[in-house]
Amino acid sequence: MGESTMDSSADSAGSPTPGTCRYLSGFGNEFASEAAAGALPVGRNSPQRPPRGLYAEQFSTTAFTVPRNEARRTWMYRIRPSAAHGPFLRIDNGSLQGPLAPPTPNRLRWSPAPFPRTPTDFLSGLVTVAANDAPDTAAGTTIHLYCANRSMQRVFFNADGELLLVPQQGRLRLATECGLLEIAPGEIAVVPRGMKFRVELQDGEARGYVCENHDAPFRLPDLGPIGSNGLANARDFLAPVAWFEARDEKVQLVQKFLGNLWATDLDHSPLDVVAWHGNSVPYKYDLARFNTMGTISFDHPDPSIFTVLTSPTTAPGVANVDFVIFPPRWMVGEDTFRPPWFHRNVMSEYMGLVHGEYDAKSGGFEPGGASLHNRMSAHGPDAKTTEKAMTADLKPHKIVDTLAFMFETSRVIRPTVLAMGSPQLQPDYDACWDGLGKSFK
Ligand SMILES: [Fe+2]
Repeated sequence: MGESTMDSSADSAGSPTPGTCRYLSGFGNEFASEAAAGALPVGRNSPQRPPRGLYAEQFSTTAFTVPRNEARRTWMYRIRPSAAHGPFLRIDNGSLQGPLAPPTPNRLRWSPAPFPRTPTDFLSGLVTVAANDAPDTAAGTTIHLYCANRSMQRVFFNADGELLLVPQQGRLRLATECGLLEIAPGEIAVVPRGMKFRVELQDGEARGYVCENHDAPFRLPDLGPIGSNGLANARDFLAPVAWFEARDEKVQLVQKFLGNLWATDLDHSPLDVVAWHGNSVPYKYDLARFNTMGTISFDHPDPSIFTVLTSPTTAPGVANVDFVIFPPRWMVGEDTFRPPWFHRNVMSEYMGLVHGEYDAKSGGFEPGGASLHNRMSAHGPDAKTTEKAMTADLKPHKIVDTLAFMFETSRVIRPTVLAMGSPQLQPDYDACWDGLGKSFK
């Protein structure tokens, strides 16, 4: 993970331009990038007068004194310091961070949400569906869906945690303080806690999932006996090159702070970082790059082998939240029940589907939909899938055209009142396990 690239030729002006975004590769690197020549100070972080009349500002997303290998911070060189703003005032939260319903041990599944009929940007289209804790606690993880049909004109940052975006439909362009990123369904993006960004739609409508991680920033999982390569490889993560807009016009800046939205009006775009260096950056990853591993003998490994990113707790091996995918892959296990097995898990599992079919279900779990299997709830393949798997001819078989994922957390996931009252909540999910009859002899 040693690559660090200086870039001085990024598009330096005006509004986001169409075309290819440019990236720096690697995970957690000490990157450096400048969008105007000479804007990045050399040899020090905070010179008396930074080059080109810019202000130096440190952006810290871990405490100053955490172990060096966990430290994340970025130095930004910007046209105006972030501190130049008036008071933030409360605005309507919309469907964000509504109250949590009483926790339920029942297995739940939702159909995909319909697209809005009125103009809705990413922020007003964010619906909180579940969380480990109440919004004013902001611990563990919070899960949102988004459904939008227009680009944000305002700029947002989330003081409550980093945001993992999983698009299900429609490409997004993220204009961030560090630069521009584009993601399509099949890719993900992570925006650090506190980083200002604007979401623009490239396909008219967009829908997807958001995992808000309130604890330790996502990192790559340890690989243990797998060795020094495999699963998500560090070099496939992409951070943007520096880009800025020097727009002196009114822009609303919105933040989420302990579950509530607050806004202030600026007289300039806050996306005015001309150069930066550091390792707290937004990044994207193409899930098709995931080096999927599995059995080449028998049995189905634990799904932890599909972990893309993990936010650890202080307990060794116990995640605050894992992001896990179920991508296309070969199934070759001999004398093996090949779908994800029946199980009961101390971890709680929220699943979504980007496209295709998930191999443990025959229908009912749709792209854009979701399921929740909370701590110790019994689940597994439905009756139809089970019957098929037990009678299948076990030739090597490739599961294709599918991408399911899971946010798996060590704490109970509590749906919101809104999610429990949603017309998309399927009343008959338990019925998918009907017909698992007695065949004991
Ligand atoms: Fe499970």
